[in-house]
Amino acid sequence: MRWLEAVLKKNQKKTIMVITHHSLVPWHDGDMKNHNYWRWFWIDNAGDVRGLLKKYGVRLVFSGHRHISTRYQQVDDIFHFITPAISTYPMRYTLYEMTPKELSWEVKDVPAPPEVWDLAKKNFLANKWWRGPDHTETPEGNQKYLEFYESPTTTKGKLIYK
Ligand SMILES: [Fe+2]
Repeated sequence: MRWLEAVLKKNQKKTIMVITHHSLVPWHDGDMKNHNYWRWFWIDNAGDVRGLLKKYGVRLVFSGHRHISTRYQQVDDIFHFITPAISTYPMRYTLYEMTPKELSWEVKDVPAPPEVWDLAKKNFLANKWWRGPDHTETPEGNQKYLEFYESPTTTKGKLIYK
């Protein structure tokens, strides 16, 4: 925290993007309630870190670790983005484009042969750990499970961050 504050202070006149591995916000109810140890997806002192970032005018935070497709949430004045993993279904990455005022993004699928995609999805559906309490092994639960990880409505977007 001392290091972070020193760096933020030194650069506060610039546009600062903070890139973390673990998130500073939860992404699912299970992340709050520690379903399957999902509390580990976001850091213990997230509130303190967010407070420090807000103090120095940070508007953009990007994290990973959660293995869900890109989406964002605004907490206080900060836009928190989550970016997907290339290693687990839905095997994606995100291209961001930034200007001094705007951020746009587009999520891309990893280029892989259809059999790799089929196997990744099959393994994902067979997995129990990645499922939230609302992702039961029923057709409806599977649909919810896929929608949470794929997030088909947020594969492209643009926002004014400044
Ligand atoms: Fe990780």
